[in-house]
Amino acid sequence: MAGMWAVAALAAAAQPAQPAWVRFDAATKVFRLDGGEVSYVFGVNTRGELQQLYWGGRLAPTDNFPAAQPMPEWSSFDGSYTNTPQEYAGWGAGMYNEPALKITFSDGNRDLVLHYVSHTQTDDGFEVVLKDIERPIYVTLHYGMDGESGVLARSATIENRGTEPVTIEQAAAAAWALPAGNYTLNTLTGRWAGEFTLNQEAIDHGAQVIESRRGSTGHQANPWFAIQAGAADENHGEVWFGALAWSGSWRITVERDQLDAIRITGGFNPFDFGYVLKPDEKLETPVFYGGYARDGLGGASRVLHRFELEKILPRTNENSDARMPRLRPVLYNSWEATEFNVNEAGQMALAEKAAALGVDRFVMDDGWFGQRKNDHAGLGDWYVNPQKFPHGLKPLIDKVHALGMDFGLWVEPEMVNLDSDLYRAHPDWVLHFKGRPETEQRNQLVLNLARPDVRDFVLNTLDRLLSENDIAFLKWDYNRNWSEPGWDQLPPAEQKAVYVDYTRNLYSILSELRRRHPKVEIESCSGGGGRVDLGILRYVDEVWPSDNTDPFDRLSIQDGFTYAYTPQIMMAWVTDSPHWLNHRSTSLAYRFLSSMQGSLGIGADITKWTPEETATAKRLIAAYKEVQATIAQGDLYRLISPRDGSEFSSTETVRADKSQAVVFAFIHSTQEGRGFPLLKLEGLDPAAEYVLSPIEGKARADTPQTASGAWWMHHGLAMDENFRGDFQAAAFRLDRK
Ligand code: GLA
Repeated sequence: MAGMWAVAALAAAAQPAQPAWVRFDAATKVFRLDGGEVSYVFGVNTRGELQQLYWGGRLAPTDNFPAAQPMPEWSSFDGSYTNTPQEYAGWGAGMYNEPALKITFSDGNRDLVLHYVSHTQTDDGFEVVLKDIERPIYVTLHYGMDGESGVLARSATIENRGTEPVTIEQAAAAAWALPAGNYTLNTLTGRWAGEFTLNQEAIDHGAQVIESRRGSTGHQANPWFAIQAGAADENHGEVWFGALAWSGSWRITVERDQLDAIRITGGFNPFDFGYVLKPDEKLETPVFYGGYARDGLGGASRVLHRFELEKILPRTNENSDARMPRLRPVLYNSWEATEFNVNEAGQMALAEKAAALGVDRFVMDDGWFGQRKNDHAGLGDWYVNPQKFPHGLKPLIDKVHALGMDFGLWVEPEMVNLDSDLYRAHPDWVLHFKGRPETEQRNQLVLNLARPDVRDFVLNTLDRLLSENDIAFLKWDYNRNWSEPGWDQLPPAEQKAVYVDYTRNLYSILSELRRRHPKVEIESCSGGGGRVDLGILRYVDEVWPSDNTDPFDRLSIQDGFTYAYTPQIMMAWVTDSPHWLNHRSTSLAYRFLSSMQGSLGIGADITKWTPEETATAKRLIAAYKEVQATIAQGDLYRLISPRDGSEFSSTETVRADKSQAVVFAFIHSTQEGRGFPLLKLEGLDPAAEYVLSPIEGKARADTPQTASGAWWMHHGLAMDENFRGDFQAAAFRLDRK
């Protein structure tokens, strides 16, 4: 019955208006959040706990929920408290599943039971306050529902209003729950040069954990999950997904509990965690985003891509109000061509060639600063190397500008080599335990960014670099994980705050730099894709998914990447063949088409390209720019996945207004004469007419040049019969008439 949902009675008169997406039924104490195609419902149960009731497809406005009832005791071994899916459960009262919050009080008490106190509207969302049944520990749960995508943003603020300090041993951003059933868990794991491998496994009893204990996001697992009802399917079925916005150590635990229900809990990694909250202090958790789609993993990633584009990624001052972030300039990066061997003449020669190809941004990578001849020295000394650049960076930057490009620079500001002036001056600035060895990785140590003096040093160094030079772009690298994470400025009991304060200071530096230099764009790189998450994506415009630029390997890395992240941020360079990693030889066109699936860059030694290669590159860069908006910001359909040694792979991206589609097709290695499968396209307007034009390769001779969306989707697009062999690629565009 319409109108059953009473608008929440608000205590204070000056409260902001209740957001349209939240309704509170005062009689049943049920909260309902609606956005996009999604509803999310929870209520205060009869014991006073906040209990999750529903997460899934959008319900009718007339649908109501009765008051939340705690789950019954199953047996003397599984009581009601552990069986009840709480929005944010304290560890206490017979809880055996993963708690959201675990606290040790100064008197040794470790029991925490959180009950509802109040709720309130804020400018950008909605909050529910919980409190321990006895002690003055308050938890404010924040909810924000994106009206278009139905993606829910959840986080918590924990507050000590007592008179004694407490230690937080575990703090999740949020816990999610799904009813008992059979589900498939999708996660992304990997390693350096092999990031973003999609894993799919049934959710069995017990816990499946993905995490980083490394101080940063990590290559080994990415803080994203997708859970599908039944078996995994690209195009069909219900999918619940989540992404944690945190670039420090994190953990996501997926449990199938004693009653077969699913719980997902994620936030700060509790391993080695211990955050002391003094009286009147607060700890804010990261945000855990969660969403839902009905049309398989493909549908889930399309929702998430659009959400990232529209709601997460930063804008520069030039497009501050734009619905979408600026398309990424086609860039050239010198790393694979020169490695550390950069100098003025060499970079100028590369810049000339890059400009002639149609490149928009020229980026000088590692090697330009301090005594940086190789990776043994220089990190920390951010002055221009006088032997390599006797006149500073200005002549090179002026030349790049004169060629019509903007200029970008590589930095790795959180690190230091032992062989550096910075380390010699401030050996205490690195993460370390007094008197213990300092473990070097790539000959470098991690600066303790949690220290205010280190934070100021990094901010001021970069601010100066950006003020003194006309730099449009920073590639911000981070080439090792933590070890010996000591912070001996603080009393021993408080030193573990490094896990929180380091990442917060990183975010504050990025945010302050963007404020002071609003036209500067930033790429998050960590030896490839080691720091990609929705936390850093609020401050950076793009990421480097992997140091592995082998165009065949990239197909799988890119496939995995796009389950969680939009192709807009997925930088992809065309590099030299044979490739340094796998020694594989591929054609330039194949390399281009692989990279054109994301935001295109060139990373080859282009001074060595033949006239034919130069012409191919020019043609494909120009063709890319015509369809870049569709590829980077459209709806992605993974038509054939390259996973599991597939002979073939294919993607299609459709512009939001369905006016254009771009199709890529790749052959790994033709076997037994098999032809490329017919590609049944997706997402077109069935009634509209689309004109097919090849970007590279040919369609079968009998393919119509113009046909309806229905034809391309139902009949399909057939490749030329000669599209066979090893490492072959084709690409097409379809434009609505
Ligand atoms: C990391 C990056 C590379 C390159 C090198 C430079 O490995 O991921 O792209 O910048 O550092 O040392």
